[in-house]
Amino acid sequence: MPPFGVSAVANLVPQLEPVPARLPPRRRAPGGGAQPFLKWVGGKGGLLTQLEPLLPPDHARRRYFEPFLGGGAMFFHLGPRRAVLGDMNKELVATYQVVADDVEALIRVLERMAGQHCETHFYATREAWNDGRVRSRVERAATFIYFNRTCFNGLWRVNRAGKYNVPMGRYANPSVCLPERLRAASVALAGAQIKYSSYGDTLESAAAGDLVYLDPPYQPVSATANFTGYNAEAFDEKAQRKLAATFHRLDERGCLVMQSNSDTPLIRQLYARYRIDVVMAARNVNSRADKRGAVPEVVVRNY
Ligand SMILES: C[S@@+](CC[C@H](N)C(=O)[O-])C[C@H]1O[C@@H](n2cnc3c(N)ncnc32)[C@H](O)[C@@H]1O
Repeated sequence: MPPFGVSAVANLVPQLEPVPARLPPRRRAPGGGAQPFLKWVGGKGGLLTQLEPLLPPDHARRRYFEPFLGGGAMFFHLGPRRAVLGDMNKELVATYQVVADDVEALIRVLERMAGQHCETHFYATREAWNDGRVRSRVERAATFIYFNRTCFNGLWRVNRAGKYNVPMGRYANPSVCLPERLRAASVALAGAQIKYSSYGDTLESAAAGDLVYLDPPYQPVSATANFTGYNAEAFDEKAQRKLAATFHRLDERGCLVMQSNSDTPLIRQLYARYRIDVVMAARNVNSRADKRGAVPEVVVRNY
């Protein structure tokens, strides 16, 4: 993401694109062609070249489930024709739904916000959000994306009272609105159900032959590791055990299941009966520079 500078602000005058009277029919580029429109902690964008060879070769003809959607890097990369997606982050899911069914209105609001972006606007918008003054679904989705593109590290974090409390990031030129990326994402989402639900509910209808990709919040590799900084409860040992039981049930149902997780003794023990590969992930969410760098992650598969 390019950095944000004062000189760039003048160039961010909203450029509203003419909206066609009738939107063109949605067409799917074979294999997707779309990319995530959000930055997301734990996003798999940097790992796709290592993960791709581990997918079943005939994945394109299978129904696809991704119940820990986040930024959806794998979903957009694969561009499946039929998909069931879910996440426990309510605002995230609401944003996906607007991208899916009202993308031109979303782009108009985001372009206006891009033109207004500065520190004062960021904090005024945060206050309006927390006071419940951002009401329409399109305004809320645009604001969610605006925060994601301009706040510190793209984090989504709320306090105990449910107030969004991430400070503004120091970007010289944040790309608040990426119209073509949003339109491509909208096309990719046309064949998808998007649910605000826990992974278990999202996976209820998964059946034999379906492909399931699980990318849960990771088990922390150390007591101080901070990889699970989502807006969800930490995915502790109990949660990992419950997820492993779901993995076994999906396996028994005949689903093809692939999971990313951290390389810890617990994860290796829980999935000892399956195939486990190691990939190397770049991690930069640690505030200490000496703790950043490539770390091993496991990919568990039942096929
Ligand atoms: C590692 S992130 C997924 C990243 C995603 N694969 C990507 O490429 O951006 C995990 C996601 O799981 C969601 N989550 C946490 N607990 C959940 C639960 N119990 N059920 C469903 N989603 C959950 C979080 O909101 C977060 O978006």
